[in-house]
Amino acid sequence: MPHEERILVCKSIEDVHEAITTLAVRGAPAIGIAAAYGMLLGLEDGYSLKDELTKRAEYLVNARPTAVNLSWAVDRILKIIDTSGPGDILELLEREAVTIHEEDRVACGRIGEHGVSLIDHGMNILTHCNAGALAVSELGTALAPIYCAKERNLDIHVYVDETRPLLQGARLTMYELMRAGVDCTLLTDNMAAHLMSQGKIDLVLVGADRIAANGDAANKIGTLNLAVLCQYFDIPFYVACPTSTLDSDTATGADIVIEERAAQEVTQLGGVAIAPEGADVRNPAFDVTPASLITGIITEEEIMVVGSITS
Ligand code: MRU
Repeated sequence: MPHEERILVCKSIEDVHEAITTLAVRGAPAIGIAAAYGMLLGLEDGYSLKDELTKRAEYLVNARPTAVNLSWAVDRILKIIDTSGPGDILELLEREAVTIHEEDRVACGRIGEHGVSLIDHGMNILTHCNAGALAVSELGTALAPIYCAKERNLDIHVYVDETRPLLQGARLTMYELMRAGVDCTLLTDNMAAHLMSQGKIDLVLVGADRIAANGDAANKIGTLNLAVLCQYFDIPFYVACPTSTLDSDTATGADIVIEERAAQEVTQLGGVAIAPEGADVRNPAFDVTPASLITGIITEEEIMVVGSITS
């Protein structure tokens, strides 16, 4: 993307694992949905089904550590083994994977409905990374309110951070929004402060990969920069995600494991070197925004005032 839109067919759990690690499928909810189906590819009934699924769960969860939706989805598949009554177990497992997928689709629609209440005519909205249809089952999380606003003929404009180093904003969000006919403008990540200082941004909407029990939110690297800027310029900063991204088992953002990715993602652009060979590099894929900087979290259930997450 954005040059070619191609359907990738995964025929084995290894294919799904590779798709997740190489970001062919990315975005927290989409990773969870893919993993739920991946758990079942090539699976055959037998008395060691539980052992096999436990092994598969471990393998998939290690593909990427930060998005909680991955372990949440494979745990749901595992629970079917323990709780299912009589019936075709493979069919029950498949039904659960389809349910996870369908629930996400419905959640996105509701996030859109809740989130659009924050949007008025003439607003300029800034988003980071891609939390749209290409990151979930349908519509997206941070982009869902934007699609709803478009559907309601609200006159809005969206600024899109390109999102270094892998350019999910430029490649994916711009692609999605332009295809949907949403007015949008691409920015490099270091332009946000300038636009905010000129009063050009009214609202920031981003997704999340994991939200700790105290409301701290992990999302694509660069999200924290925006939250800090929003506080300085007094701009509302909202995180949109399904409740499957809320992790009550993780106490605070400090407990969230941040994925560190390959140096080449930073030293190369489109396969071309942009730094001297051997340059020392850091490449954390996510950062954590403290709850104190988040105005609210938009879920399928409600817009939560941060600090009140208990489950
Ligand atoms: O590394 P990625 O592309 O998987 O990162 C994606 C993000 O950070 C998204 O904002 C997040 O997963 C929410 S997707 C609805």
